[in-house]
Amino acid sequence: MSFLTVDLEKCNKDGICALKCPLGLIQIAEDVPFPVQDAEDFCLKCGHCVCACPTEALSLDFLTPGQCLPVDSSLNLTQEHVEYFLRSRRSIRTFEDKDVDKDKIEKAIRIASFAPTGSNRQAVKWLVIYDRNKVQKIASMTIDWTMHRMKTEPAFADDPVAKLLINDWKNGKDDICRHAPHLIFCYDDEAIGSASANCHTALSYLELALPSFNIGSCWGGWVTYAANAWPALIEELDIPKGQQIFGALMVGYPKFKYYRIPPRNEPEIIFRD
Ligand SMILES: Cc1cc2nc3c(=O)[nH]c(=O)nc-3n(C[C@H](O)[C@H](O)[C@H](O)COP(=O)(O)O)c2cc1C
Repeated sequence: MSFLTVDLEKCNKDGICALKCPLGLIQIAEDVPFPVQDAEDFCLKCGHCVCACPTEALSLDFLTPGQCLPVDSSLNLTQEHVEYFLRSRRSIRTFEDKDVDKDKIEKAIRIASFAPTGSNRQAVKWLVIYDRNKVQKIASMTIDWTMHRMKTEPAFADDPVAKLLINDWKNGKDDICRHAPHLIFCYDDEAIGSASANCHTALSYLELALPSFNIGSCWGGWVTYAANAWPALIEELDIPKGQQIFGALMVGYPKFKYYRIPPRNEPEIIFRD
């Protein structure tokens, strides 16, 4: 099978496929699309050419129109829904004492996998710490790292946040993973320039997808720093060589609900005409 196939009976010669290709890998000759030389070596596999063809005329060797989900505009959200949904998202830091089914976590991660990635790499990976005892072990190791830093880094010795975290931990309060039942790390190839953005975007998608399963989450900034710095924790997490953790979400069923949406700063916007 050739890399790009056009059904000439279906093709309406509108040239949309060529206009849509982000790398200009499709050209038009006598109104018919054809791939440039070695197009398959450069193709991002984004599927735009297949999905933007109104007549299902174009297929790639790895993708036919029938393999793509049809667009259903009846499911589009209104601007009002989108604004309310995004404004009402909250960081959840108090969780029910109840595990989330693994298949729900998996479904939410599958949705998050539709986040954009640089050059459509789609190489973001996930480490789900499912066992709550292991989440607590990771929180404890993060506290060890914090105490080590206070002892060894003069500038950090009096850090008020570190002091608070350690004091609370000693009193049985986990400010690192917030006693969440599960912790989800996102990682990608450390050598790829877009890896950090890819992971952060995927985690944001996950954070936004989870409430539709009645699951809440909160970013774990402190635990992410420790996951990249504290040898014992790096060993515990054991992610493949050459990969780097860029972020984490603590996850579980929210214990409380919110009755109001707090205001946020006005954005600083510069328009240049
Ligand atoms: C990159 C990042 C790291 C964060 N790290 C933590 C954290 O370690 N612990 C925590 O309780 N909240 C953490 N948060 C949550 C923020 O504190 C929270 O988003 C902010 O207070 C606003 O609240 P909201 O998310 O409910 O709007 C983090 C958020 C981001 C985006």
